[in-house]
Amino acid sequence: MDKEIRKTIARLKEEKDAVILAHYYVDDLVQEIADYVGDSYYLAELATRVPQKTILFCGVSFMGESAKLLNEDKTVVMADADADCPMAHMAEVSRIREVREQYPDVAVVCYVNSTARIKAESDVCVTSSNAVRIVSKLPNPDIFFIPDENLGRYVAGQLPEKRFIFNDGFCHVHREIAAGDLISAKELHPDALVLTHPECTQEVLALSDFIGSTSQIIDFATQSDHNEFLVCTENGIFYELCQKNPGKKFYPVSQHQCCPNMKRIRVESVLRALETLEPAVSLDCELSEKARLPLKRMLELAK
Ligand code: 13P
Ligand code: SF4
Repeated sequence: MDKEIRKTIARLKEEKDAVILAHYYVDDLVQEIADYVGDSYYLAELATRVPQKTILFCGVSFMGESAKLLNEDKTVVMADADADCPMAHMAEVSRIREVREQYPDVAVVCYVNSTARIKAESDVCVTSSNAVRIVSKLPNPDIFFIPDENLGRYVAGQLPEKRFIFNDGFCHVHREIAAGDLISAKELHPDALVLTHPECTQEVLALSDFIGSTSQIIDFATQSDHNEFLVCTENGIFYELCQKNPGKKFYPVSQHQCCPNMKRIRVESVLRALETLEPAVSLDCELSEKARLPLKRMLELAK
């Protein structure tokens, strides 16, 4: 990357007392300039520990909202105002209230990929890295898992003692990774292990050797003695996989493993956001009070 850009970013970070956090799905160059890169859980938890007064978030809006909910006093700036996750909107408040009436002992478990409005109606948040562990710790026999049906079904499969109610939300990027494409890719690379994110379909999960969040996939591949892997998640993950494992081979299974919202974030947008400290995340106070609770409960239960 251009030395001048690096220098400008370093100067602006110092001037604004800012730290740059990025998700593994953003563009390689953005990952390169970030101070920290991680999965959704790591970034949410890290946001509570960084000393800087400004967090510049390179990710989609629910990530910035979570960082702001957990850090009322900090300024959280999004690298791109329009980078939003469609799945974050795929749960209805009216449906949550209806399920609560129908199942009085239910726990509403909300994947962190959700708006603050949906979190505010939930009992606990989870991410793909801690969902099984957190749900297993809940005393409730009934679980309403929102918004992602695929992750919900994966968690349910690990916890047969609980009764799950599912919601029909989905991640279009992971849903489009087709089992047929994976079967063809396995024929091309018969020695490769299949590493899959739990937002993928049940058919794809059934064909996988390892299922985990983006960080868990990277850790698994890094610790594995295997040399070849087929990767069923967004293609931004290849940057870190290759950085950490220069001698290993990683293959996508289709041409469509790309999240258009994550890829909106460019180095230029990071520079602009650092200069202007806009757009800053701002949430209604009453909503924040409610939406913060399930996030804090997640941090507690994940310890
Ligand atoms: P993780 O960061 O938990 O792996 O989730 C992936 C994702 O879809 C984020 O948008
Ligand atoms: Fe949302 Fe899927 Fe993109 Fe993640 S990869 S931000 S879940 S659309």
